[in-house]
Order: sequence, then C-alpha cells, then structure tokens
Amino acid sequence: MSTSKRYTITSALPYTNGPIHIGHLAGVYVPADIYSRYLRITGNDVAFICGSDEHGAAIPMRAKKEGVSPQVIIDKYHAIIKKSFEDFGITFDNYSRTSAPIHHETASEFFKKLYDDGKFIEETSEQLYDPEADQFLADRFVIGTCPKCGHEEAYGDQCENCGSSLNATDLINPKSTISGAKPTLKQTKHWFLPLDQYEDFLKEWVLVGHKKDWKTNVYGQIKSWVDDGLRPRAVTRDLDWGIPVPVEGAEGKVLYVWFDAPIGYISSTKEWAEREGKDWEPYWKDKNTKLVHFIGKDNIVFHCIIFPSMLKAEGSYILPENVPANEFLNLEGNKLSTSKNWAVWLHEYLEDFPGKQDVLRYVLTANAPETKDNDFTWKDFQDKNNNELVNNFGNFVNRIVVLTNKYYEGIVPTPNEFSEVDLQTLTALRAYPNVIGSSIERYRFREASQELLNVSRLGNKYLADEEPWKLIKTDPERVKTIMYVGLQIASALATLSEPFLPFTSQKLKNMLALTSSDLEVQWNEITDKEVLLVAGHKIEKGELLFSKIDDADIQKQLDKLEATKKANEAENKIVEPQKDTATFEDFTKMDLRVGTIVEAEKMPKAKKLLVLKVDTGINTRTIVSGIAEHFKPQDLIGKKVTVLVNLAPRKLRGVESEGMILMTETPDGKLVFLNPDEESVKPGAVIS
Ligand code: 2FM
Ligand code: ZN
Repeated sequence: MSTSKRYTITSALPYTNGPIHIGHLAGVYVPADIYSRYLRITGNDVAFICGSDEHGAAIPMRAKKEGVSPQVIIDKYHAIIKKSFEDFGITFDNYSRTSAPIHHETASEFFKKLYDDGKFIEETSEQLYDPEADQFLADRFVIGTCPKCGHEEAYGDQCENCGSSLNATDLINPKSTISGAKPTLKQTKHWFLPLDQYEDFLKEWVLVGHKKDWKTNVYGQIKSWVDDGLRPRAVTRDLDWGIPVPVEGAEGKVLYVWFDAPIGYISSTKEWAEREGKDWEPYWKDKNTKLVHFIGKDNIVFHCIIFPSMLKAEGSYILPENVPANEFLNLEGNKLSTSKNWAVWLHEYLEDFPGKQDVLRYVLTANAPETKDNDFTWKDFQDKNNNELVNNFGNFVNRIVVLTNKYYEGIVPTPNEFSEVDLQTLTALRAYPNVIGSSIERYRFREASQELLNVSRLGNKYLADEEPWKLIKTDPERVKTIMYVGLQIASALATLSEPFLPFTSQKLKNMLALTSSDLEVQWNEITDKEVLLVAGHKIEKGELLFSKIDDADIQKQLDKLEATKKANEAENKIVEPQKDTATFEDFTKMDLRVGTIVEAEKMPKAKKLLVLKVDTGINTRTIVSGIAEHFKPQDLIGKKVTVLVNLAPRKLRGVESEGMILMTETPDGKLVFLNPDEESVKPGAVIS
C-alpha cells in the first residue's frame, strides 16, 4: 500500500461542444475519481485537476450549428458539464476552463519560452484552404481518407479509427467540413515542434523506462509511432478562435488546441493553488510528485508523445508517471456519438434515475473498457443493479442494520469468544484494504470493484452460515458475537466503498452513526486495528441503499434509443439533387400504368434479378427487375405496382424486358414499390 506521496492527477479536459455522456464517465472520470479518492483517504497529498477545453475547431462548429457565438456555446456547456461532474461525485480539486485569463497567460508564456529558446521550426508551407469559406482547413475542419487505414472520415489532425496522428495534407480526397468544397493549397507560416528531435528521449523515457508498468495498449501505440518515425508538428493554426500566438508576425494565428489544452492542466493547478494558498510548482516540478494522466485512447498520442516533448523542451517540468488510457465504451452495440445523439447523457440519466449516481458509477466500473472496447447495455445495467448491488451489497447491509435494531435497539453488542469461523472471517476482511488498494494502484478498477463486492459477499455468506435469526431463540449469547462480527464488516464496507460508491458510503456511514472521523475506521486501519466498530455504539435505523430497477424502466431507455435511431435515419436521408427540367411534352412521352405482378421467379445464376410477368392492362408482359435481394418471388404475386410501359425493350441475360417497375429506397437501403394500394384501381389505369 502506498506511503504518503504527492500526486498530480489529471483527467482529459472535455470539449465544451456538448454535454458529457457515459463514455466520458467510464473512460476517464470515474477511474480518475476512484484513484484520487483512494489516494486521499490513504493519506496522500492529491491535486485532482480538470477543466473545460474551449478552443479548437469543435467549438465554432457547434456554434455555427446552433446559430450562436462560440462564447454562448462554451458558457452553456461548461455549466452543464461542471454540474454533471458535481452530481456524479467527481471530486476535482479544481475544475477550470481554458478561456480563463490564467490559462491564456500560462499557455502564452509556455509558447514564448519555447520560442525564445529556439525550440520551434518556423516554416512557410502549403496548407489546405477552402476557397468558398475563405479559410485555412486543419483538424476538424477537414475530413478525408486516412492514409494509414483507409477510414473515410479521418480528421485533419487525427484518424479516430486507427488512432494515427495526421497532418491535414496527408489526407486522401480531403473535403472541407465547412462548405463541402475540395480544398486548394495556399501558403502560410506556422511554428512546428520538431518531434523527430525527441525520438531518442521518448524511447528512453517510455520504451525503456516504463515498459513493464504501462498498459499494453498505451505502450503499444507509443512504440508504433516512434518506430514509424516522428515528424515536425505544427503547433499554430490560422483560425480566429483560440489563444493568439504571442509573437510578432503571427497576426490572425492561434495556438493549436492540442498545444494549449494540456497546458490547461498546469493553469488549473495554478488557479487551485492560488485559491488554497498553496504553491503550485511542487505539483508540476518536484521530482517526487507523481503525475498521472487519465484519458481515452484517442488522446494517447497527445499525452504520450506531444505533451511530454513540450514539457521536455520547456525543461523545468516533471513527466507523467503513468498514462492509464482506456479503450472505448459502446452503447447497445454502436459507437457512442455526440453528433448522432447516440449516448446516455448524464443529466438525462439523473432525470430518469434520480439518486442512482452510484449505480451508474458501479456499472461503468465493473464493465470498464480497460483492456478492450466494451458495450454498455441497459439489460446489463439492470442485472448488475439487481443482482450485485441490491441482492449482494444492499442485502448484507440491510440485514445487519435491521437485526441490530431488532435485537439490541441499535446498540453494537459485546462479543463473546470468537469461533474459528469468526476469526477466519475477520482475517479475510482485514486483507481487503490491501487487495483493493493494490488493484487501484495498478489502475485495475474493474478488478477492484469486484473485490469490493467480495467484502459484502463475505458478510452475506457469514450470516447465511451462522443464521443468527435462528439462534436468537436458542443461543442469544452466540448471536451477540455473530452480530458484532457482521457489524465490523459493515463498518469496513463503509470505508472501502467510498472511492467507488461515494453516496452509498455516506449513507452507510449515516446508518452506522459514524458521525465523526474518529468513529469511522480509516482505510489503513482496517487491517490492523483490533476493533472497527466498538461495542456499545448506537447505530441508526436502516434505509435501503439500493432498489430494484424493473423491466419498464429499462424498456423506456431502449425506446428512447430506438427513437434516436429513427430520427438519425430520417436525417441521413440523402436528397438527390433535382434533375434537369423536363418539358410537359417530355413528361407525356412516359406511359406510366398500374400493373399487377402475376408470376415471379429468380433469374438463374443472377443474384439480383427476378423475372416477372406483369398484367399491365394492355397485355401480360415480361419485366426483368433487379430486386431479388429485397423480395422473395412468392411474396410478389398479386402485388400492384407502377410500371413504365413504353420503355424501349432491352435484353437482360438473354431475357427481353418490356418495361420498368418504379421503386424507391428507404434511408437504410430497403427497396419499396410505389404501389397504388387503392382496391378499385385496375391494371392499365394511366398515371398522369
Ligand atoms: O478529446 C478531447 O475531448 C479533448 N478535449 C481532450 C483534451 S485533454 C487535455 F490535453 F487537455
Ligand atoms: Zn486511420
């Protein structure tokens, strides 16, 4: 277990271009909060730092979509995001924002120092330019095909599919996301950080120094970038939203968002230290401080290559001790997406499940995407709540509190001699602070959460085996010992659950009347302190810690997602541009009739074709139609369809087709007939 140390713990600054969802919570903020809470309650000096990321292309783009100024967007989402974090018990020591003056100053000074020390390359080169929008294109303003993996929607700075870090000019078939225009090339001056000069440092620092203790996904990505060879990276942009480049000759240019955002960790620490009357520098410059960055996997390159190179170039900062990046969480089998509204938004979750913050925290931890992408399903959420929290944790606490009140009016009984089972149970209990702590210290939060549930499992098994409710009539003295042991477990549980289930832990402490910290057992004391909850102490009445979630609640969430899916399909409908004007004469040339399909069979050796006989009212004729992948021949007999009957006949696979059946397509690619349903309409009726 850790001895007292200083920690600077950062979690990725969220973009204020939308609210936050379960993916953010699972990937970054819940693990970072568990880690920070654990380190605090085990006596360490912790600065847990975050804030809003308010520059970059994402903000003006969202502002444009909502028809407001970027300032309105950042103020709106900064407030929503900050509140969500508070609601879910994320205990940042400071939550700042990159629009704050202290951040502008800190980032500008950082740039200036590197500039003055000659750490940048200044270069005029050709960059992508949108001639319609009259703007340079970089980052999210341009998409195209990734040269590494072929993903067609890679951004100008990064491919979210393969994680490659890109320059906008690397994209194949680039397209402006502002106007859709094909970019031209235009000359512009920028400052580049020559990452190639930091290759040896990065190799030494991570690939040699940390190869054993960093997560394999993180280590693997760094290795592959370094092995591929690093290139100079522009750290300025031609944009009007961001921190102005603080040197002469840089008018109209701002710092690249990924240059300023990680410096946001430093400025947020400064803001906190100023407020608390502390010195910020040891948290970033003392070699004994452990700096840990919690991020999602799409941020690995920025935290493991670019930011460390910036820190190294500056020269006076420490480097991260670890970067425990998580993989992605999916939702019901699909990638979480802010723009597609495919998400469980935290503020909406709380409206539907008030007071159930810990349930979500627990489910996201027990199912965290630590080593591979994982799926969040509402069914699993319900199962974990009902089977693990209600039936295991909640059930144990409820039994012990209710029975203590029933047998002893809430007073912890004095135990008699401990049996072998009692001693084994207490010994098992005393091992948990180390077991859980060691998992947390190795960033294995899933494992840690399961060990926590093993504590209440231990309690449930003990009660089920010892059956105090049976013995109370025959051996009340033995029951005192059993209840005493059970109460020791409950007391340990109140402390051990705090990093994971902070609201529950508080409720449990209230139930056990642990009104001051000297009544509470401390994490580090559980292993050695003889008495965890003293005989004679009076506890409160029980209240349920968790309640069952029923099928109707889950169905409501699934219906919500189904509605989102439908809305997306409707929005994605691509409307073909209108064709050239047809004269009335052109139109009257088309002879459109109602017809009935009377026979249908598959064209041999053709996957897509059906040979149909259609009664057109004029005659029954053969029409070959490319619809075999959408309809079974037998389902078509008797169907009324719209037919273009005077289309010049043509042979398809040797069969003459004398007309065309009119069809249309749904947004998801399903073919449907334009069919005149009306009963009284007969074959041959003219459509005009
Ligand atoms: O990917 C993101 O959401 C970024 N806003 C994370 C920034 S992390 C840090 F460097 F500020
Ligand atoms: Zn790619």
